[in-house]
Amino acid sequence: PTYEATSTAPVNIAVIKYWGKRDTALILPTNSSLSVTLDQDHLRSQTTSRCDESFEKGDRLWLNGKEEAVKADGRLGVCIRELRKMRSEVEQGDEKLPKLSQWPLRIASYNNFPTAAGLASSASGLAALVASLAQLYELPQSPSLLSCIARQGSGSACRSLFGGYVAWREGTSSDGSDSLAEEVASRDHWPEMHALICVVSDKKKGTSSTSGMQRTVETSPLLQHRLTLVPGRMKEMESAIASRDFDAFAALTMADSNNFHAVCLDTSPPIFYLNDVSRALIGLVEELNRASKEATGHLIAGYTFDAGPNCVIYALEGNIATVIRAVQRYFPTEAAFPDPFGVLGGKEAGEVDVKGFNVEWSSAWDKGSVKSLIHTRVGDGPRKLGQE
Ligand code: DP6
Repeated sequence: PTYEATSTAPVNIAVIKYWGKRDTALILPTNSSLSVTLDQDHLRSQTTSRCDESFEKGDRLWLNGKEEAVKADGRLGVCIRELRKMRSEVEQGDEKLPKLSQWPLRIASYNNFPTAAGLASSASGLAALVASLAQLYELPQSPSLLSCIARQGSGSACRSLFGGYVAWREGTSSDGSDSLAEEVASRDHWPEMHALICVVSDKKKGTSSTSGMQRTVETSPLLQHRLTLVPGRMKEMESAIASRDFDAFAALTMADSNNFHAVCLDTSPPIFYLNDVSRALIGLVEELNRASKEATGHLIAGYTFDAGPNCVIYALEGNIATVIRAVQRYFPTEAAFPDPFGVLGGKEAGEVDVKGFNVEWSSAWDKGSVKSLIHTRVGDGPRKLGQE
């Protein structure tokens, strides 16, 4: 018979960034990191795994309908091998179980967002693969143990095995057994966290994170300074989340993103992920925050950028409409905004006042357009789907 399992996994966006490996084979990081899991209702990878004794030999994988080679010693091959090993241990303990670990696999994975959107699709993709194989093999391992496997596929993928607010602990062991993800707080602890993804470019990035971070480790003296900062920031971020302190959350998020991009600039040759539109968006959020601080005493938003020009802006539910209106007012968006939460109340951007904030137009923002805006919020971890 054919055995089959389907799982979905979410995208995560780090607020304390992972950048640098101390072990490139096991993917062990030079620092711990922390992310917010985004809602799978909007962004997700979905993976179906099948195995059957009568399949032709060799594992095969399709990504968005296109077949990709599964190299035994490649990152994907390693994830599959590790999960097989776990299954075969289970089989050894129970004679009656079918020997699924010995059967060829057929794996199909889809993203419900364009891979080219510049969003981290490898994290959700690898997490969905690990979740679906763990389901197929009925593995008893905890999500943290499974995160160790996903980590070997792509570092940031380990954080997509959890919902809510997630830390990837760097660990100290050389075999990587304590370099794993864990939930810092559930989605329900702070469900008001919303995110606006400003897609600035849908082109594939110039320098991949894998090669970029390796070059940083080899050449950047500033990275050594960053590594002294991160442990304190991890603690501060965890307490900001524990006490739902948005001001601290946003300030740390922006500081860490800027520090990460400074380290990229300090790399030789330098890596530029931000472009003029990215910097203009930073300018706008900084100005919104200045105005908000003046009006209410609090920050309204926090931006962060991964290894590309796209901006992710975190803001609380009650403030996200203001942020969306402000972005729309100063940056023409090419695609229509679907307004999934209906926060704009059907009003056009130009009609709405940015909450009475006197945000002056700056020529620095006149840098071009944003492709599209994706409004989402904090979400849950991998889901098991029934057979379709
Ligand atoms: C900037 O996880 O893509 O998004 O481990 O080599 O696959 P590999 O790198 P990857 O790096 C992500 C870097 C980042 C920051 C982050 O997500 O923490």
